[in-house]
Amino acid sequence: MLDRLVAIDPCSFSSFSKCVTKHLNLTFHVDFDSHVLKAKVALTVEVLVDHFKSLTLDTKDLKVSKVTANGQAAKFTLGPKHSFMGTPLEITLPFDLSRGQHVIVEVTYETAPNASALQWLTPEQTAGKKHPYLFSQCQATHCRSMVPCQDTPAMKHTYYAQVSVPKELVAVMSAVRDGEEPDPQDSSRAIYRFRQPVPMPSYLIAIVVGALESREIGPRSRVWSEKEFVDKAAYEFSETETMLKTAEGLAGPYVWGQYDILVLPPSFPYGGMENPCLTYATPTLLAGDRSLSNVIAHEISHSWTGNLVTNKTWEHFWLNEGHTVYLERMIGRSMESEQFRQFKAMGGWKELQESVNTFGANNPLTNLVPNLNEVDLDEAFSSVPYEKGFALLYHLEELMGGPEVFMGFVKSYIQLFSYSSITTEEWKHYLFTYFKNKVDILNKVDWNAWMHTPGMPPVKPQWYYCVGDLGNFSEWDVKTLSTHQLIEFLSLLLQQEPLPLSHVKRMQEVYQLNSFNNAEIRFRWLRLCVKSKWEDAVPMALKMATEQGRMKFTRPLFKEVYNFDKYHEEAVRVFIAHRAAMHPVTANLVAKDLKVDNDKST
Ligand code: BES
Ligand code: ZN
Repeated sequence: MLDRLVAIDPCSFSSFSKCVTKHLNLTFHVDFDSHVLKAKVALTVEVLVDHFKSLTLDTKDLKVSKVTANGQAAKFTLGPKHSFMGTPLEITLPFDLSRGQHVIVEVTYETAPNASALQWLTPEQTAGKKHPYLFSQCQATHCRSMVPCQDTPAMKHTYYAQVSVPKELVAVMSAVRDGEEPDPQDSSRAIYRFRQPVPMPSYLIAIVVGALESREIGPRSRVWSEKEFVDKAAYEFSETETMLKTAEGLAGPYVWGQYDILVLPPSFPYGGMENPCLTYATPTLLAGDRSLSNVIAHEISHSWTGNLVTNKTWEHFWLNEGHTVYLERMIGRSMESEQFRQFKAMGGWKELQESVNTFGANNPLTNLVPNLNEVDLDEAFSSVPYEKGFALLYHLEELMGGPEVFMGFVKSYIQLFSYSSITTEEWKHYLFTYFKNKVDILNKVDWNAWMHTPGMPPVKPQWYYCVGDLGNFSEWDVKTLSTHQLIEFLSLLLQQEPLPLSHVKRMQEVYQLNSFNNAEIRFRWLRLCVKSKWEDAVPMALKMATEQGRMKFTRPLFKEVYNFDKYHEEAVRVFIAHRAAMHPVTANLVAKDLKVDNDKST
């Protein structure tokens, strides 16, 4: 209990040891002319201490015009702006409150046109070319640029929202749809309503407005996208209900009601995002080969690990992502095979190796539980919490008696900590409680090395089914490999010294790799070519880097071209030319990667 009060989130200014937010009531007027949300939020706040008189909310680039508390005007001041944490909003109540009381704090405000959570797309940037488009991406600390709130995952609240948009457009949110009606104030607009009755952290608030259409793909699922992609998406994600059922079998009932998937425009910076009731997916998944992408299995898994059991601060992010990768691969095990799971696990170990190499084996950001004081989370993002987290869980699985035994723990952990936010200590304490008969073995684990030491983990997991062990690839012909195997094969080549130019040219002649549309294959192949200094690949690499904006692809592609001496300037030139059309987070990070002055950003 004490821990609950003292845990401080280094990534938030909000005074969460004094009060907690229980509910948000949001009103958004989406203005595509000025790229601004004209908004109001009423926060229902529960007070945890006596003599409570003031509270701090997180904001970032917000224009606050008015604050009230229980309807009475309240004094407020905005503090100094921190480069990535934003600006604390200090509110003084016109009255005192005691522990256990509630207050409704209402803030009237506008977002900035360059709000880091939002990307405003012009009609030309959409598939349909006729209508503008807006989407948010709040994880990890961008919600504050859209909603003044206690922007920490330590807090969970429900929400209700009313969104006014031009009537030819559709709004969706990370919540259950609760009807629509003409906007009584403006006949050219419509109001969409949403309710999220399950308490969730602020980073899961999401809003999308565009010329959206949808199609049913299961009893609790629809796909949403611009009409150009709906059919392709329905085909690609047709296994959704099977995956949901498989996940429920592993983790317990799905509590969020609806599970929809929204396919975003190509600039969406991630592969997927687990917004409750509405998973976001990159359009780069729509290669048409239905190659059982793990992204949907991953985002479905977050419905339990992440969205029900949540990391208390971002220092414990591995609890979200490590367990989610573990569940994602258990879904792969059920729907495919144990071999498939181990194949993916081996690939994950290689991803971890690559992250450790890029960050440096002594970099404290490669700790499983890093210190995030004064750390910009967008810059710290890597495969480490995913794959070091997975490796730890896989190692424990091996020690505790195999997948069935360990899944028993994971399911019980989910049940126990559902609807709360927890730390690594709480996780570990429960691990020792659940396996109370095996604490001798658990005590032999080098916890300090796993959790608080940079670099690769202290133990390399065993892969029993070494089918397609990476060493065997040389004997195989690329033409006989599955999509998954081809991806691993190219990853393996990427880890080696650059191939001689003649080799990659020969690979193109024999295997026609330039004509593959699967983004995971194309990304690795183009990187390989640029690494080998094949000039023909440079324009293709830059094209892929700019035609889609998934950071996993865009950042390494830009960097690879930038590191090719002769095309250094070209990489910078292409970036600057595209910068204004890029997602704000992607533009910021690519600017840093290419050492371009960030102040010139638009
Ligand atoms: N929640 C993450 C995406 C994220 C993390 C956004 C941190 C912003 C900050 C999501 O669940 C995720 O991990 N996506 C992966 C999918 C992959 C691991 C299958 C991605 O985007 O590549
Ligand atoms: Zn994830």
